[in-house]
Amino acid sequence: MVCFRANPSFFLLSFSAFLFISSAFGNSLLHHTRRSPEVFVGREYGGVVQWDTRRSLAEGSAGNSSLILAETRTYRKDPLDNFKRYSGGWNISNQHYWASVGLTAAPFFIIAGIWFVLFGLTLCIVCLRYCCCPRAPFGYSRACYALSLILLIFFTLSAIAGCIVLYTGQGNFHSSTTSTLEYVVNQADTIVENLRNVSGYLAAAKGVAVDSIFLPSDVRKNIDNIETKINSSASTLSQTTTDNSKSIQDGLDAVRLALIIIAAIMLFLAFLGFLFSILGLQPLVYFLVMIGWILVAGTFILCGVFLLLHNVVADTCVAMDEWVQNPTAHTALDDILPCVDNATAQETLSQSKNVTYQLVVVVDRMIINISNVNFPPIAGPLYFNQSGPLMPVLCNPFYSNLKDRQCATGEVHLNNATEVWKNYVCQVSSSGICTTPGRLTPTFYNQMAAAVNVSYGLYRYAPFLVNLEDCTFVRDTFTGISNDHCPDLRRFSAWIYVGLVVVSAAVMFSLIFWVIYGRERRHRVYTKRSTARSLDNENKAI
Ligand SMILES: *[C@@H]1O[C@H](CO)[C@@H](O)[C@H](O)[C@H]1NC(C)=O
Ligand SMILES: *[C@@H]1O[C@H](CO)[C@@H](O)[C@H](O)[C@H]1NC(C)=O
Ligand SMILES: *[C@@H]1O[C@H](CO)[C@@H](O)[C@H](O)[C@H]1NC(C)=O
Ligand SMILES: *[C@@H]1O[C@H](CO)[C@@H](O)[C@H](O)[C@H]1NC(C)=O
Ligand SMILES: *[C@@H]1O[C@H](CO)[C@@H](O)[C@H](O)[C@H]1NC(C)=O
Ligand SMILES: *[C@@H]1O[C@H](CO)[C@@H](O)[C@H](O)[C@H]1NC(C)=O
Ligand SMILES: *[C@@H]1O[C@H](CO)[C@@H](O)[C@H](O)[C@H]1NC(C)=O
Ligand SMILES: *[C@@H]1O[C@H](CO)[C@@H](O)[C@H](O)[C@H]1NC(C)=O
Ligand SMILES: *[C@@H]1O[C@H](CO)[C@@H](O)[C@H](O)[C@H]1NC(C)=O
Ligand SMILES: *[C@@H]1O[C@H](CO)[C@@H](O)[C@H](O)[C@H]1NC(C)=O
Repeated sequence: MVCFRANPSFFLLSFSAFLFISSAFGNSLLHHTRRSPEVFVGREYGGVVQWDTRRSLAEGSAGNSSLILAETRTYRKDPLDNFKRYSGGWNISNQHYWASVGLTAAPFFIIAGIWFVLFGLTLCIVCLRYCCCPRAPFGYSRACYALSLILLIFFTLSAIAGCIVLYTGQGNFHSSTTSTLEYVVNQADTIVENLRNVSGYLAAAKGVAVDSIFLPSDVRKNIDNIETKINSSASTLSQTTTDNSKSIQDGLDAVRLALIIIAAIMLFLAFLGFLFSILGLQPLVYFLVMIGWILVAGTFILCGVFLLLHNVVADTCVAMDEWVQNPTAHTALDDILPCVDNATAQETLSQSKNVTYQLVVVVDRMIINISNVNFPPIAGPLYFNQSGPLMPVLCNPFYSNLKDRQCATGEVHLNNATEVWKNYVCQVSSSGICTTPGRLTPTFYNQMAAAVNVSYGLYRYAPFLVNLEDCTFVRDTFTGISNDHCPDLRRFSAWIYVGLVVVSAAVMFSLIFWVIYGRERRHRVYTKRSTARSLDNENKAI
């Protein structure tokens, strides 16, 4: 998510670059009218997609509805709106959403506050009473003593159980967040690799002579720009991904460490407190009570934070799922992700297929009409003393209606045409005439190779770029996250929060019972002693 959010302009850049290639070719290479299809207007210049076009297209054709993501899950009270229910659904750019999620954690913050104040006051009162008017303990009851001991043991055991849940939960949470992160980084790397490959094929255009037959110089310059843009998008994405994933990973590691330390401290505290109060070491018990008083307030606040986190994770998972299932609706995720609608994407795809088709037709015509013809020297510019075996023609992957076509035998495939044609290059004299058998001059070969590279790049990577453009790629990524990672993320964030609740509550009651038990114990000891003393006295009297 973070990397998608961090760099939305990246997608825009690469799509518009791509769209530009398609339209540039469509327009100038193939000599059809300069009028661009309407969808391309406004996209071509400066890498800026005009949102209005996209919106109106989306609303006009596919979805009239504006889908509210995770609507039932996020139907919560909103403190910023007089505690009315918030109905905007999952929308992280909306402060009401955050306020209403934050409110779900409020009980823990309130408990933390109340605990801090009340227990603090109680401690003060106990302390004052102890210091000002020390009284002889009285009122020993065997039942009270036993009960407080039992409850003390019970809460200590609960604290231990809570620590175990917390520890296991954080371990599992850490590994599921890490694997989710790896998955996202991996998807980003796939994008980067594809973009780098596209940029490699487009780089061919650079090496072509100025008077190229296939690539007019203005088109070449544009391809050059686009290649640089795609290259820099790839670099930016790769850089952002590396940086973000590193800092996220560091953050996760820190959370993990913090939770382990908290679990350990609470465990230690519960154990020591239990031990000291059983042994009747009152000063140490009071020291631990002071520490525990603050720690418990802290862990209650952490409970709230993790409950909030858990709710946001669950909301996001539901939102992703609903977004994936409703590709046409306008949702809050569209504000973050620059997706174009399906019709536009399909148009781009067919445009790029058409460019590939037309380029191959031009190249094949050159081979059939020029290279493979043995012209007499008087043929003028078409003659360069071509001779030798005939060159295989290039396989056109599409029919003229842009349906997929199988290669006929004897045709070379786009991906290795440049390899195969190398064998047909002759050596040339200074006047550009072949002096050895061959059907291509090196210049001619380079231009054909460039044309082949550009059309192969489009043919091979257009579907991928279109997938980026209409967010199919993002949908697939989200499907992967919501199917494979969400259940674990939700479960283990809940474990952490449950573990924290159990630990906090158990330690909280333990603190109280350390004090109560300590008091009961003192009373018991005192009562026993005084009973013994009075018995003694009676004996003496007798
Ligand atoms: C849009 O949706 C509303 C109800 O949600 C419906 O009444 C209306 O006919 C729809 N319009 C179109 C063009 O689909
Ligand atoms: C990118 O190109 C390299 C080498 O040409 C190839 O091995 C790799 O599979 C390509 N990657 C993608 C995603 O097509
Ligand atoms: C065409 O692309 C391939 C692979 O990217 C590259 O090896 C080759 O040099 C390119 N051809 C030209 C003429 O640039
Ligand atoms: C793409 O950018 C990298 C550095 O980011 C650079 O090394 C490489 O030469 C560039 N490739 C092209 C074809 O411009
Ligand atoms: C999300 O919230 C922002 C800010 O309040 C708002 O402008 C936007 O329209 C909301 N998006 C949706 C889809 O409701
Ligand atoms: C887009 O439309 C094409 C056909 O027009 C269809 O095959 C494809 O599934 C659609 N994609 C989405 C995401 O709707
Ligand atoms: C090339 O061949 C095509 C048929 O394949 C023919 O229609 C066209 O006129 C020829 N062009 C030249 C320049 O010879
Ligand atoms: C392909 O492009 C040419 C010229 O740009 C156009 O005349 C033709 O109709 C297009 N073909 C299809 C199937 O769109
Ligand atoms: C060219 O590629 C096709 C399929 O990709 C393969 O069948 C053929 O053997 C290759 N030819 C050469 C010369 O590499
Ligand atoms: C034309 O090519 C042949 C080899 O195929 C060579 O023997 C001959 O000298 C060349 N003619 C000229 C005028 O260079």
